[in-house]
Amino acid sequence: MLRIGIAGFGFMGRMHFRQWKALKGAKVVAICDANPNIKEDTKRAVGNIAGAESDIDFTGIEVYQDFVQMLDKGKLDAISLTLPTYLHATCSEQALSRGVNVLCEKPMALTTADCDRMVKAAGKSGKILQIGHCVRFWPEYAKAKEIVDSGKYGKVVAAMFQRLGSPPGWSIDNWFVDETRSGGVALDLHIHDTDYVQYLFGMPKAVCSHGAKSPKSPKGHLIHIVTQYEYGPDKVVTAEGGWGMSPTFGFEMSFNLILEKATIVYDLTRKPMFRVCPAEGKEFSPEVAKGDGYSLEIEHFAKSVRGEPVPEVLTLEQSRDSVRIVEAEKKSINSNERIVIK
Ligand SMILES: NC(=O)c1ccc[n+]([C@@H]2O[C@H](COP(=O)([O-])OP(=O)(O)OC[C@H]3O[C@@H](n4cnc5c(N)ncnc54)[C@H](O)[C@@H]3O)[C@@H](O)[C@H]2O)c1
Repeated sequence: MLRIGIAGFGFMGRMHFRQWKALKGAKVVAICDANPNIKEDTKRAVGNIAGAESDIDFTGIEVYQDFVQMLDKGKLDAISLTLPTYLHATCSEQALSRGVNVLCEKPMALTTADCDRMVKAAGKSGKILQIGHCVRFWPEYAKAKEIVDSGKYGKVVAAMFQRLGSPPGWSIDNWFVDETRSGGVALDLHIHDTDYVQYLFGMPKAVCSHGAKSPKSPKGHLIHIVTQYEYGPDKVVTAEGGWGMSPTFGFEMSFNLILEKATIVYDLTRKPMFRVCPAEGKEFSPEVAKGDGYSLEIEHFAKSVRGEPVPEVLTLEQSRDSVRIVEAEKKSINSNERIVIK
């Protein structure tokens, strides 16, 4: 039985809790959150994707307010690190150096330099560090990758990705809107698509980004980003991410992939959500894996911790590179220039 700790029990902590609870051979035995009222506060609704558990039974779970104390006392095999992003690097190092495997939420860290620290700590410890790039595991995104890689419908000619919602307002002290703690909309939200673009096509040669700033924020925080990723003359790839939508808009994640002999379409807000439209013949909705990106990434992580074979879905270097690409995207917005990725 894997003994699991969860560090940070907000939206994603509760999402991970639900997935761990459903997984055989693992048990959440410890939860850590700085909030002393966490048991009561878990009853609040949070997040932009349904599924974060709200009615938590804390029986048999030790609750800590201090992360290091949980590591030292919890006798843990692994943790879900679902703390705010600015804590990812240091807390990953602290856990790995104590022999605890880490599933750390995305983005890996605030900067490439911090990601490098984490790669080094994982290497030194010999333990598993996996970054929560759940979109690589999201059933429709995983199936789309499988179809593209099969070559059945020829090459991708154009690919467009969208991820749009209202500002994340569920965190207790609103750390998301503080760019120094979250990295802002580009690193927090849009990185999901940056990472998937990298998964499908590898590293882009260059990026060209444009952004809209919040008219309400005195510091002019970015609320919307559109990036073109360069992969040579035969392919157009763009991704758009924004958290400036009105609250009643809800949440949209979607993509259109135009291949030589088919169009693949996904949109969380449509029915059917996922369609393959071949150039010839009828459209169809392919069968996809059961579960969602969160349950499937946790299953993958648990297998890795147990030493069972898993397909290579993501590496630490790729997770680090997604942060590197987003850094280039921000640089492109600030300089109004195309940025070459070295
Ligand atoms: N994969 C996804 O789809 C997805 C979605 C949302 C957020 N995230 C990521 O998950 C991470 C957490 O986001 P969230 O939405 O759960 O945030 P949140 O604000 O809802 O939860 C963070 C929790 O950490 C606690 N905390 C803060 N500092 C602490 C400390 N020093 N020690 C112990 N507890 C502390 C807070 O009290 C809070 O309960 C972020 O990195 C975010 O980018 C991922």
